[in-house]
Amino acid sequence: MGDGSIVLITDHSSTEGSADVLAAAVRRLTGRTPVHVDARHFLPGNDGKVGGENGELRLSAAGEEVTPDAVIVYEIPPHGRRAFEPFQRELWRHGIRSHATEAWRWATEKDLMVRRFVRDGVPHMPTRCGPWRDAAHLCGDFEELGGDVWLRPAVGAGGDDVFRVTAVEDLVQVAGARGTWLMSKDAANVNADGLRHQFRVVVLGGEVVRVCEHVQKDEFATCNEVRGAVSTVLDPGELPEHLAELAVRAARSVGLSFAGVDLAAEHGGVVFEVNVHPAFGADRGLETMAIPYVREQITPRSGRRRRGSCRP
Ligand SMILES: Nc1ncnc2c1ncn2[C@@H]1O[C@H](COP(=O)(O)OP(=O)(O)O)[C@@H](O)[C@H]1O
Ligand SMILES: [Mg+2]
Repeated sequence: MGDGSIVLITDHSSTEGSADVLAAAVRRLTGRTPVHVDARHFLPGNDGKVGGENGELRLSAAGEEVTPDAVIVYEIPPHGRRAFEPFQRELWRHGIRSHATEAWRWATEKDLMVRRFVRDGVPHMPTRCGPWRDAAHLCGDFEELGGDVWLRPAVGAGGDDVFRVTAVEDLVQVAGARGTWLMSKDAANVNADGLRHQFRVVVLGGEVVRVCEHVQKDEFATCNEVRGAVSTVLDPGELPEHLAELAVRAARSVGLSFAGVDLAAEHGGVVFEVNVHPAFGADRGLETMAIPYVREQITPRSGRRRRGSCRP
């Protein structure tokens, strides 16, 4: 048994705002304020420690120690997730099994995500992964994908460094770029008004809990809200059944129970990516996402302390 506390671990350098919504959800469900700890304490070499025997978990950081009943981990920026894995494995060892390293990695690193999609038959646009041996191979893939592609880094968020490229000369901007990149055929996800549109579908435990439609006026910009897309919350029932099933399959393919799936309805439904920590959003994010998510995190399951998905 713990001391009754609920620990909320987020990266305090993140400005996304999900931590406040999660804290509100914990208060709403339990009447208690969570102990909010900066995730960076638990990066290798920092002062955060994990301990405890006989099924008990003890966390200490910044001179404080708790034996929590539940641990919620959120708002860990994609680029920092590899460094966070040793801490996740420690949590797993101590029975906190909802933050599995493999699932995070499969979703965060989009080259791995595409491999999972291929393995599981999750529809997505034809994609080639770099690095490319030379300019000829890069241009060859560009032509084979129809000369209208989206380039994105394997690890990213918010549409950062995501480009639509329609002219071979514009490929040079990624030719020398560091890291792994993906090149995907344009989904032509344009609505009857000529605007780009797609859905963010949040799933929890195999059910759709929230749906937003994103519409973007600029045909060369991504449908991320931070890039100017307009987001409208829909009733989950408004999403066609086959797209709801697609979102659930995509989350399952990368091993996540809770996920925000970006998908387009065109081509029968294609998935762009699966987000590990979808932002809660101002419009009803507390009710539709944070409260159901926190409820799952703090409810012990039979035979183990927390719900688990994949081994770390
Ligand atoms: N093949 C594609 N066709 C059309 N739009 C795309 C394609 N690939 C990416 N995009 C756009 O770029 C956005 C950003 O890509 P995504 O993989 O979601 O990365 P991020 O993590 O930066 O949000 C997508 O949500 C979509 O709006
Ligand atoms: Mg996205």
